[in-house]
Amino acid sequence: MVNVPTSTASSKEEFYSELKEQIEAIVVGQRNWVTNLANASALIYHGLRQVTAKPINWAGFYLLDPTQATPSLILGPFQGKVACTEIRFGRGVCGTAAQQNKTQLVKDVHSFPGHIACDSASNSEIVVPLDLNGRVIGVLDLDCEVVEGFDEVDQEGLEAVAKILVEACDWRSILGA
Ligand code: SME
Repeated sequence: MVNVPTSTASSKEEFYSELKEQIEAIVVGQRNWVTNLANASALIYHGLRQVTAKPINWAGFYLLDPTQATPSLILGPFQGKVACTEIRFGRGVCGTAAQQNKTQLVKDVHSFPGHIACDSASNSEIVVPLDLNGRVIGVLDLDCEVVEGFDEVDQEGLEAVAKILVEACDWRSILGA
């Protein structure tokens, strides 16, 4: 059993530095991606809500769906309300991040063409690709109920978290290898 204490961070910078250490701790001896992404979702969702006091309403992952001929994402481990299950590359914020292999920091989702509203309460979003040697194997997605819920500090922190997770997990079931 991994004992992860409640965050005591007083700033987002401190939170992300703590989060990286926590994620490095939970993946020790564990390379299963479902397990690690499930625990990472919980750490991100609960920790960020507590530290920022912002109404973050979703944090989780979409993964490359190896059963689809057209590049598509399928819902993975998350915290929050029931969400859309399939997103094609190029569609919505998640599909755009996956297609471009580039973080999408969306301060107001209503000004993002094609945004997919899984929850009408969401007003801002950040989506970070999971890049395995130049290939997108999924995305990390966070939603917030207020506009400008995320900034460049979140982007830097979440990109670092995504890198740790990509390196920590075995992706063979997704890559079909
Ligand atoms: N808003 C996303 C869909 C996923 S949910 O936010 C959980 C998008 O536009 O891709």
